[in-house]
Amino acid sequence: MRVTGEAVNVSAMRVGYRPGGDDDLEPDWLSGDPIWLDLFERWLAEAVEAAVPEPNAMVVATVGADGAPATRTVLCKAVDERGIVFYTNFGSGKGHHLAERPVASATFPWIAMERQVHVRGPVVRVARDETQAYWDSRPRGSRLGAVASDQSRPIDSRDALRRRAEEVEQRFGASDDDGPVPLPDGWGGFRIEPASVEFWQGRANRLHNRVLATRTDDGWTVARLQP
Ligand SMILES: Cc1cc2nc3c(=O)[nH]c(=O)nc-3n(C[C@H](O)[C@H](O)[C@H](O)COP(=O)(O)O)c2cc1C
Repeated sequence: MRVTGEAVNVSAMRVGYRPGGDDDLEPDWLSGDPIWLDLFERWLAEAVEAAVPEPNAMVVATVGADGAPATRTVLCKAVDERGIVFYTNFGSGKGHHLAERPVASATFPWIAMERQVHVRGPVVRVARDETQAYWDSRPRGSRLGAVASDQSRPIDSRDALRRRAEEVEQRFGASDDDGPVPLPDGWGGFRIEPASVEFWQGRANRLHNRVLATRTDDGWTVARLQP
């Protein structure tokens, strides 16, 4: 146990949330088709407006065939009625998990706004033409970096990584005038198709507001959950 230095007293850390008001979060805020989309887009826009850092960052949880979960932050790169999209390397830890068990949950932690949104559902791969369009929109450096990295596999040193990056840059060129950087077969998008979406708004005395939309065979049901 650490006995010297300036240990942080996590048990005393406590933030009192705003009391909230009538305009805080109500089940009837959820409407439209699919029922979660309008409110999700509104909250995301409000997170952008409030200058939340990386407002499209979400923590994605997956599980492997052994049932062991893993979480990591990724960037949401598309939202529409089909679901929530992120891009990654199919050979990464999450890529293997999703090949074994194509389900995930994603949490958008907009802590500065005392909000989070939590999405769960089956996961499908994004179509190649859609992936290609996103790939082409990325800065060249990001495309080169993605080609150079066998994400989540070990590498001997930072130098070895730099050499790989240099080789890739020599192969395809550093400038967009050097032609396209081909989309790697092992890189692409995953779409979480929401089976449930929970909106959470912090309120005073831990009496937070939680509203859960769940997909059913006939549409969606909405419930308020205890905090
Ligand atoms: C803010 C932030 C954004 C990130 N965005 C992505 C992303 O969009 N795609 C991705 O593959 N990794 C992203 N990462 C890195 C992942 O968190 C993770 O380290 C990597 O994907 C390997 O995870 P895995 O081994 O579980 O597959 C991001 C990390 C941070 C902190």
